[in-house]
Amino acid sequence: MNHYTLQDLTDMPSRYRANLMNSCTGYKPCNLLGTKGKNEKTNLAIFNSITHIGSNPPLLSFVLRPTTVARNTYQNIKETGFFTINQVHKDMIADAHHTSAKYEDDISEFDKTDLISTYRNDFFAPYVDKSPIQLGCSYVNEYLIKENNTILVIGAVEHLYLSNELIHPDGWVQLDKAETVSSIGLDGYALPEVLNRFAYAKPDQPIKSILNQS
Ligand SMILES: Cc1cc2nc3c(=O)[nH]c(=O)nc-3n(C[C@H](O)[C@H](O)[C@H](O)COP(=O)(O)O)c2cc1C
Repeated sequence: MNHYTLQDLTDMPSRYRANLMNSCTGYKPCNLLGTKGKNEKTNLAIFNSITHIGSNPPLLSFVLRPTTVARNTYQNIKETGFFTINQVHKDMIADAHHTSAKYEDDISEFDKTDLISTYRNDFFAPYVDKSPIQLGCSYVNEYLIKENNTILVIGAVEHLYLSNELIHPDGWVQLDKAETVSSIGLDGYALPEVLNRFAYAKPDQPIKSILNQS
């Protein structure tokens, strides 16, 4: 097994270190953030740092890179207060990756890809048509991570859309049925498969599968 110390990591060429550190902690969720500016121009960008923060109230977060260059998604969210989160289906990966390209703020990634914007229930921000799981969110707060000048943005979930076949009777969502992808680092895309699902673990109790009963 290779062993890298902090010094080894620090001494690596930056692209190599970025690939290694971005992928070694595991698969990440792969989502498209849809926004619209005050000027009505839409924007779409891929983010793999969406994290569940809590269920009651339903909150999530994402990490934004330092604002040393224009960040259209962030600017739109700050201007309008709304964004959508759309899981990437396996058939969308090339277009989803394309949204990471640096386009000027007057150019919409919806016009540069085959991804189609759609609006639901008068929500301000655009969703991605055919994304199997879509959330409409509002901006709540942000925290500067002063160690590297990234920003942790907190959002409140206001709307959730997904088809009934994906949801088990107890609310658990079987993501492999949605065929949504995970990312490895900043350029790899993978299709995970559910292996099992277990009952709540209790001390000294055998682990019990509930995949086929839920
Ligand atoms: C797989 C992947 C994941 C990404 N995840 C993030 C992320 O979590 N946070 C971030 O700030 N940028 C992330 N990016 C980079 C943004 O997609 C990129 O900066 C994009 O141009 C932002 O668009 P915007 O300026 O229109 O908001 C990611 C890129 C890729 C390819």
